[in-house]
Amino acid sequence: MEQLLTVDDAERLAEQVVPTDAWGYIAGGAGDERTMRWNREAFSRCRLRYRVLIDVSDVSTETIVLGTPVSMPVLVAPMAYQQIAHEEHELGTARGAAAAGTLMCLSTVATATPAEVAAAAPGAPRWLQIYVFKDRGVSDEIVAEALDAGFSALVLTADLPVVGIRDRERREAFDTPEGAVPAFVAARARAVGGEAALRLLDAGVEWSYVSELRERHGVPIVVKGLVTAEDARLACDHGAEGVVVSNHGGRQLDGAVASLEALPEVVEAVGERAEVYLDGGIRRGTDVVTALALGARAVLVGRPVIYGLAFGGAKGVQQVLEIIRDETENALALLGCRSPAEVTRAHVSTTLL
Ligand SMILES: Cc1cc2nc3c(=O)[nH]c(=O)nc-3n(C[C@H](O)[C@H](O)[C@H](O)COP(=O)(O)O)c2cc1C
Repeated sequence: MEQLLTVDDAERLAEQVVPTDAWGYIAGGAGDERTMRWNREAFSRCRLRYRVLIDVSDVSTETIVLGTPVSMPVLVAPMAYQQIAHEEHELGTARGAAAAGTLMCLSTVATATPAEVAAAAPGAPRWLQIYVFKDRGVSDEIVAEALDAGFSALVLTADLPVVGIRDRERREAFDTPEGAVPAFVAARARAVGGEAALRLLDAGVEWSYVSELRERHGVPIVVKGLVTAEDARLACDHGAEGVVVSNHGGRQLDGAVASLEALPEVVEAVGERAEVYLDGGIRRGTDVVTALALGARAVLVGRPVIYGLAFGGAKGVQQVLEIIRDETENALALLGCRSPAEVTRAHVSTTLL
């Protein structure tokens, strides 16, 4: 067995076990994958300004997101069709995230239902990601099931009115296998297979839907997939309690701004009105503290979690999350911070960003 010390090691291990077509879907991005690359490159253009001679003998990575305590400012991003990565699918991810003490966001197009996920890791914190179907009954049903099962927030993904053009997927002719038909769509609309589910989405959703969700369900709403101050303000105006600065891991609009680059303007626009999270390209603890320094309350990780799932099921997910947690703890100590809350704007220089 190769050594597993970093997220990059996890990626290599995963690539060895995932079939090529599924790998194209998981690891690829849209178009020329410029945005996917920029997401990573943006971190290497930030410079950390660490402070010294501060007592860091007791560092904690724990934090709170929307009132929920978590072991680290690192949450599991929603990702579709996890059955294609490992037979434990979303249940493995749920167990791994719970073992690592953090929160999982379940995708709308998951290959397990919210109730199954809740039963797999009872008591663990969870949010549900929503795509809006033309048949609103499908969306309503999954939301109702998730809220019944104790999911505590709804994350409306706003950057997928239509699916991005992903060449690796197209070249490999990726299609989700039989067993990977999203559980709830299978129940509602038989015969609907894999990616076809995404063709049933409503491209006509507008901001009023955010207020509607808030009013109907009474749980916090998070808007995921925005990269501008303008949209961040609109999200707050419509009652969102959280926003995820994200370009869908570079899988939607190629050429879109790197999420880290967009973070400062969103943080400034939102002020104290909502919590700001970031995803896209987080692979190291130093990436986590960089995002915190630029004002994120927490980050979400996507592909690294699937890499862990692919090579090791629940255990692999836990291992990957613990690598990021340990690196974050180390980065906090070396930055001169005892907790995520102590990381400030002064800890990063962005003259190159
Ligand atoms: C295989 C895969 C499936 C995804 N499926 C969803 C999804 O169903 N809903 C969603 O909101 N985002 C989805 N995303 C985007 C992630 O939530 C997240 O924004 C992105 O992966 C973060 O970038 P990273 O992979 O570099 O960490 C998916 C990403 C990947 C890699």
